[in-house]
Amino acid sequence: MGISCQRLIKSFGEPPTVIIKGIDLNIEDGDFVSISGRSGSGKSTLLYLLSTLDLPSSGSVMIDGQSPAELSVDALHQFRNESLGFVFQFHYLLPELTALENALLPARKNNNVDAKTHVNALFELFDIQTARDKLPSQLSGGEQQRVAIVRALSMKPRYLFADEPTGNLDSVNSKIVMDILKKANKEWGMTLILVTHEPDYAAMAEKEIFLKDGVIVNTAS
Ligand SMILES: Nc1ncnc2c1ncn2[C@@H]1O[C@H](COP(=O)(O)OP(=O)(O)OP(=O)(O)O)[C@@H](O)[C@H]1O
Ligand SMILES: [Mg+2]
Repeated sequence: MGISCQRLIKSFGEPPTVIIKGIDLNIEDGDFVSISGRSGSGKSTLLYLLSTLDLPSSGSVMIDGQSPAELSVDALHQFRNESLGFVFQFHYLLPELTALENALLPARKNNNVDAKTHVNALFELFDIQTARDKLPSQLSGGEQQRVAIVRALSMKPRYLFADEPTGNLDSVNSKIVMDILKKANKEWGMTLILVTHEPDYAAMAEKEIFLKDGVIVNTAS
């Protein structure tokens, strides 16, 4: 059912500073959409609004046929756990858990006993089998980010939100991560919304959105 927003506005502070200034957008299921723009243009803010992590000041967001603003806290948590995956510039792996334990956290929260097979397959697919039983501190940055993506994919989310997932990686690891994200979109049908500074990665999307000062100045598809 996709994601759509209408007349989306987000402001912060008092007196309010308007950061997202009336955005209309339609994202279909299975789309790959990139969001680019200069630092401070509102990319992360828009991504958080589209992904239920933040609520608009006014205007509406619909994701999968429902409005996050109208869901109870419990329903929102469940929806996020079951249907949404998040990847950030920093991996936020828990330092005291092994890579495998980190990747299985969402499944454990959801009592999903089948996830282990899927997660193990993802470790192989991403070529990080040897990382499974290590702590995050024992892994390279690229390996850590791949573990974070396994965690994001562990519940087979239908929507994947990535905020500069390659921002801390060298070009080799960036390419690996982008190939994984593209594969999740193309082969598994996950809707992918990617914030990136890299024009080459933005261009991998079917639909490119350029933000300037909180408004969409250009789209390309
Ligand atoms: N919680 C907040 N409180 C106050 N201001 C905020 C908040 N979140 C974002 N802003 C402001 O909104 C503007 C846009 O921030 P945002 O993080 O969306 O930019 P961005 O395009 O993702 O930038 P970058 O490329 O540096 O990550 C910035 O001026 C920022 O200071
Ligand atoms: Mg940002």
